[in-house]
Amino acid sequence: MLLDVQNLSKRFEAVTILDGVSLSLAIGESVALTGESGSGKSTLLHIIAGLEPADGGEVTVDGIALSTLKDAGRARLRRDDIGIVFQQFNLIPSLNIAQNLLFQARLAGRDANLSALAEQLGLSEHLSKYPEQLSGGQQQRVAIGRAIAARPKLVLADEPTGNLDETTGDAVFDLLLQSAKETGAGLLIVTHSERLASRSNRRLHLRQGRIQQ
Ligand SMILES: Nc1ncnc2c1ncn2[C@@H]1O[C@H](COP(=O)(O)OP(=O)(O)O)[C@@H](O)[C@H]1O
Ligand SMILES: [Mg+2]
Repeated sequence: MLLDVQNLSKRFEAVTILDGVSLSLAIGESVALTGESGSGKSTLLHIIAGLEPADGGEVTVDGIALSTLKDAGRARLRRDDIGIVFQQFNLIPSLNIAQNLLFQARLAGRDANLSALAEQLGLSEHLSKYPEQLSGGQQQRVAIGRAIAARPKLVLADEPTGNLDETTGDAVFDLLLQSAKETGAGLLIVTHSERLASRSNRRLHLRQGRIQQ
């Protein structure tokens, strides 16, 4: 399994957010995660990415258990093997679109085909612009491009269409599915939309701290 989450638990203060979450994701598989606002979807993604510690359980990415890694090891795993698409894009305002797209690939020391990537994302005309000059949908495509440019094994996307209108959101969602398919990445995508979730290979629902298949 590319991603294996076993019996994960997480509390904030006295409140239990995740209460024995288990899930797995195979190479090349796309899984949609739904759940009400506040159900812990972002927390789960952050724990999987090693950005947030769990209180119990284990996350294993490509055979490596996060609990066996120190901070630097988790940062390296994130840099080399995980692409993250944040809901709020998190583009770097002082870098142009080309530099934003290549940012993670450069950190990981990997080549990326900028012109092919830009073409796939419909961003070829915008490479020398800066994030603030693009629309929300275009910025989200840059965020996706940055996450997939280095061809990570695992792509985590947190409501990547949450800020977009329906047409743009549909296009962005399909782009993520298609690019993950092309690179053979596993994709875990959080969405509010039942309609979009049904386009993935498999669906999971987070409720009261647990996964309902
Ligand atoms: N750093 C934090 N400290 C305290 N509570 C938090 C923190 N992060 C999230 N929470 C709480 O945990 C719950 C789940 O949040 P979150 O994972 O963001 O849910 P979702 O992404 O499903 O909307 C919410 O009640 C939220 O307020
Ligand atoms: Mg969230």
